Amino acid sequence: KQRELVLAFESSCDETSVAIIENGHKILANIIATQINSHKRFGGVVPEVASRHHIEQVVGCLEDALNEAQVSYDDLNAVAVTYGPGLVGALLVGVAAAKAVAFAHNLPLVPVNHMAGHIYAARFVEPIIFPALALLVSGGHTELVYLAKPNSYEIIGETRDDAAGEAYDKVGRILGINYPAGKEIDRLAHQGQDTFNFPRAMIDEDNFDFSFSGLKSAFINTVHHADQLGKELNHADLAASFQQSVVDVLAHKMVKALRKYPVKQLILAGGVAANSGLRERIKSELQDFEDVSLLMAPVKLCGDNAAMIGAAGYIAWKAGIRADMSLNAEPSLEF
Ligand code: KG4
Ligand code: ZN
Repeated sequence: KQRELVLAFESSCDETSVAIIENGHKILANIIATQINSHKRFGGVVPEVASRHHIEQVVGCLEDALNEAQVSYDDLNAVAVTYGPGLVGALLVGVAAAKAVAFAHNLPLVPVNHMAGHIYAARFVEPIIFPALALLVSGGHTELVYLAKPNSYEIIGETRDDAAGEAYDKVGRILGINYPAGKEIDRLAHQGQDTFNFPRAMIDEDNFDFSFSGLKSAFINTVHHADQLGKELNHADLAASFQQSVVDVLAHKMVKALRKYPVKQLILAGGVAANSGLRERIKSELQDFEDVSLLMAPVKLCGDNAAMIGAAGYIAWKAGIRADMSLNAEPSLEF
């Protein structure tokens, strides 16, 4: 089979990334310039700071990707780019860069939804088998997505308030953990026990939606209340209790969705899919579904990166999905 190369850009939040993907599933380069150190002291991503960093980083990332993959512009078949959802000023940088390359080298421009990208991070493990269900858990989104066929995404459930990753980050702040806090809470959770029994919101409701703001508030109130009494709570137990609540709700709704939607595959993806407790739990729940194969995005590709945009972009390109030079950033893009 001839080799088909997609150049991909990702700049929706606090990672500038450029990747080159061969035949939709082989990473020739995946350069990621993170800005986390610049945002840490603010406890979250500052949009203006993010945009400026993307502008400073994007050309260097592009050059590094071409060098690392040892390809030239002439070797490329398409340019894929995240055009939403995300921070508008951040997205615009990737969109402008992708347009420039596509225009200068007369290449097709392929628009990619960031969340479809997260799902396709799993493609680097194995091909996706349709119909599939994706549990998509990130810093900005928590969704159950039904994929009837390639390039078809239907949200069947989503968070009504905070995303799971957002809750991790806010709770982490209370414990004095730097943004983004997910990884550190995950580590702490393994040293503690679920002694606080925080709420599992909407777990018994007859839908596939989530809510994490009540959990976040319960956590914050518990810590503040103890503070007032001059009591120091065990951080590992707090982390373990919080994580157990998040994992219980996600797993419960996923199982409910699998019962209603007979799919061939369950895909776990998004930044929070790197969570070890969640991965273990989903793996064990899937044992009850013999006909459903489990596909988890590799831990290293769960966070934002352009490789996943290249994988999703390849499928979109093959299906003839194109953008022209009027492509704009869409901060609130939905499936
Ligand atoms: O998908 P992502 O990289 O960015 C968005 O598109 O939002 O997700 C980032 C989120 C952050 O909230 C971060 O705390 C969380 O993923 N995260 C984790 C873990 N690693 C990253 N949450 C829980 N456990 C982890 N191991
Ligand atoms: Zn993301």
